[in-house]
Amino acid sequence: MSALMPTYKRLPLAFSRGAGAILWDQRGQRYLDGLSGIAVTNLGHCHPAITETIATQSSTLLHTSNLFRIPAQERLAAELTSATGMDSSFFCNSGAEANEAAIKLARRYGHQRGAKIPSIIVLESAFHGRTMGALAATAGHIMQADFEPMLPGFIRVPREDLSALKALTDNTDICAILVEPVQGEGGVRPLAEQYLRELRNLCDQQQWLLMFDEVQSGNGRCGALYAFQRLGVAPDVLTTAKGLGNGFPIGVCLAKGNAAEVLGAGHHGTTFGGSPLACAVASTVINILSSETLWSQADPIRQAILTAFEAELEDASVVTDIRGLGLMIGIETALPTDGLVQRALDRGIIVNVTAGNTIRLLPPLVMSLDEAGELGAGVAQVLNQTTRDTP
Ligand SMILES: Cc1ncc(COP(=O)(O)O)c(C=O)c1O
Repeated sequence: MSALMPTYKRLPLAFSRGAGAILWDQRGQRYLDGLSGIAVTNLGHCHPAITETIATQSSTLLHTSNLFRIPAQERLAAELTSATGMDSSFFCNSGAEANEAAIKLARRYGHQRGAKIPSIIVLESAFHGRTMGALAATAGHIMQADFEPMLPGFIRVPREDLSALKALTDNTDICAILVEPVQGEGGVRPLAEQYLRELRNLCDQQQWLLMFDEVQSGNGRCGALYAFQRLGVAPDVLTTAKGLGNGFPIGVCLAKGNAAEVLGAGHHGTTFGGSPLACAVASTVINILSSETLWSQADPIRQAILTAFEAELEDASVVTDIRGLGLMIGIETALPTDGLVQRALDRGIIVNVTAGNTIRLLPPLVMSLDEAGELGAGVAQVLNQTTRDTP
């Protein structure tokens, strides 16, 4: 029996060091990172400014608790609210925790409005995390199976089906809609801008909170600091994590207007969330992203990947769709995907498969255009090989 609970089917590979878009395994073999630790190392591995922040802050102060003022937390809150147009922040340690904060905020808002069972509308193929609240918001019987009873108070509707939402407007228990502007685990599916605008209108009309989960799509990945800024529809509540710490754990739930007034003293808490170290790192990340408008690299890198992919692909009919926004890239294939990730590793590239048949690329914003071409061509070569090997 392993000393680790086997919650992951791990590949038999361990990395020993990284720099920018490159990882090296324990034998010194080089890999081009098309995954960024699942949308985390958006600034690349071991960015010198992050390394420097961790070294300086960790030799000054790591943790004091939220019983005291934390200047680094106040500074990060000011930076994030100013960059997003939100009004207030709650810091935690992960994406699931950020969504738990949003769910609690929405429920309290619902109670303030007299709801009996405050209910949050969520979408099919959504992923919001694995803690019990986030899991109830997540679609899919497979992830929920054997963990029932699920938390009540979620109503699931098909994605981009406005009539399903309009059919709920008489339900006075509804307090919020929670969506990923670009669904990640569900197959890299951006929601149509028109649908997002309709969500905004409906929320304004019904006084429901519009809550965006940008745990994966945020922090520069989609060609704006947060994807909603590119899509032109602002939420009342915004959650993010992953790339906010570039590898150091941190999450945040931001809120605006009335939503920013909902949680008060004693309503929510965390021991570790918003520590001086985590906040110093996230400040460095936000400042690098903003000062270098690094997110403007997302589209050229995407283009270089897809151009090389299409040039190298021998049979275009094996690709059924290419989706995404910026550096969330989904390539849906009709080919079997078993063993595809390993075949990519054998060629020195790191990719992921999600939702069964979608190759997911989440490369860092610091990937060079040459590396992007290498990644795109590499993915095509893996598909070419799979086509030849599939009877
Ligand atoms: C959109 C979205 N929300 C929430 C989560 C959960 O984040 P974490 O794994 O940090 O709890 C993820 C993780 O993949 C995600 O993609």
